Amino acid sequence: MGMKVLLVGGGGREHALAWKIAQSPLVEKLWCAPGNPGIALHAECVPIQAEAIDTLTAFAVEKAIDLAVIGPEAPLTLGLSDRLRERGIAVFGPSMAAARLEGSKAFMKDLLDRHAIATAAYRTFRDPAEAHAYVTAQGAPIVVKTSGLAAGKGAIVCSTLEEAHAAIDRIMVEREFGSAGDEVVVEGFLKGEEASLLAFVDGERVLPLAGAQDHKAIFDGDLGPNTGGMGAYSPAPCLTPALVRRAVEEIILPTVRGMAAEGYPYRGILYAGLMIDGDDLRILEYNVRFGDPECQPLLMRMRSDIIPYLLACASGSLEGMSIDWDPRAALCVVMAAQGYPGAYPKGDAIAGLDRAAEVTDTMVFHAGTRGLEGRIVTAGGRVLGVTALGDGVAAAQQRAYEAVTRIDWSGVQYRRDIGYRAVARERS
Ligand code: AMP
Ligand code: GLY
Repeated sequence: MGMKVLLVGGGGREHALAWKIAQSPLVEKLWCAPGNPGIALHAECVPIQAEAIDTLTAFAVEKAIDLAVIGPEAPLTLGLSDRLRERGIAVFGPSMAAARLEGSKAFMKDLLDRHAIATAAYRTFRDPAEAHAYVTAQGAPIVVKTSGLAAGKGAIVCSTLEEAHAAIDRIMVEREFGSAGDEVVVEGFLKGEEASLLAFVDGERVLPLAGAQDHKAIFDGDLGPNTGGMGAYSPAPCLTPALVRRAVEEIILPTVRGMAAEGYPYRGILYAGLMIDGDDLRILEYNVRFGDPECQPLLMRMRSDIIPYLLACASGSLEGMSIDWDPRAALCVVMAAQGYPGAYPKGDAIAGLDRAAEVTDTMVFHAGTRGLEGRIVTAGGRVLGVTALGDGVAAAQQRAYEAVTRIDWSGVQYRRDIGYRAVARERS
């Protein structure tokens, strides 16, 4: 008897997960809540929102789900994993207590501090006057962050003191990010190159995935405000095998051990956002889920069936496992709606999806789309993640953009330079 799997979420990351999970011979039936029109090609979509944890739990029990895979951070921080585990369902995803690693930057920074794990110097504040005084004393550049979840937009890197004071007011006084800004983390600015190292974690053991890098800024050249991510690729040439080993031993394992020792063992995928500056390696952020869009190129490169890893994380049995990777590179270009990461229109008809799908070794993952009268229309800020494999990052990049240029809608925006650092490194 094959397994019944429930995937929670409806973005580009979940489309990649659905595509990968559906390929497993171990799976008999895959549901996705709420899913999207791309996911509907691989799973039965059910109209339950990812945050509706009561309804999701009832659905999982009714369908006798064998494994639940939780994509986004919101249901994790709301405790969906705990609810499902209470009902005897295997869950890929951390508990509510463990999800604080992403849900509360203050919690994360204090945990790193308790276990002497290298990160940026920081202080946390609930009073804007104290935050202003600290920033004045520290000087710029400096980074001001909401402690709570803000869809990747709550970290404001300030090159001047004026910007830093304005950031404190935006978060704490104008409350631009709502209650996510009740507490603020002010951090020292770190220079260097960022890379993403994701790892399967089973409570104790850590199995790193291939390296990845994303582009968070909206404009070419990594300029402009941060977004959830405008593109990503794997491998990340700057993440050498030696650095991966150090990241696991100096950062990820001590974090996982610290969490287990404190009574909230971590199970699921752990995303470490690293800052590399020569020999200096620090952890910038943790996410408690697959990165979006890092997930898309990573899963295109993963040759192994993903289900055994998801089960092993859920049941504490990662010991002795390894992952088979496609030696080729994969690169994802995010196509976004006009105005993103600010306000954007919805409902624009998307043309060219069929022609883009004809490009070899390319997947058009849906992020913010919906079906309307037989057409696919935009329904979010990040709309599509066009992802291609190639012999090297430059080849993957060329193929991804070949597919991107076949797709169009009114006001579409995307970066033209995804992967530029890796391509330059490849050439030299
Ligand atoms: P976070 O929300 O903490 O992941 O931060 C989002 C982005 O802001 C990171 O990917 C970095 O590009 C930038 N950033 C965050 N913290 C720092 C820091 N301490 N120094 C430099 N850049 C940072
Ligand atoms: N791509 C960064 C993130 O998922 O947070």
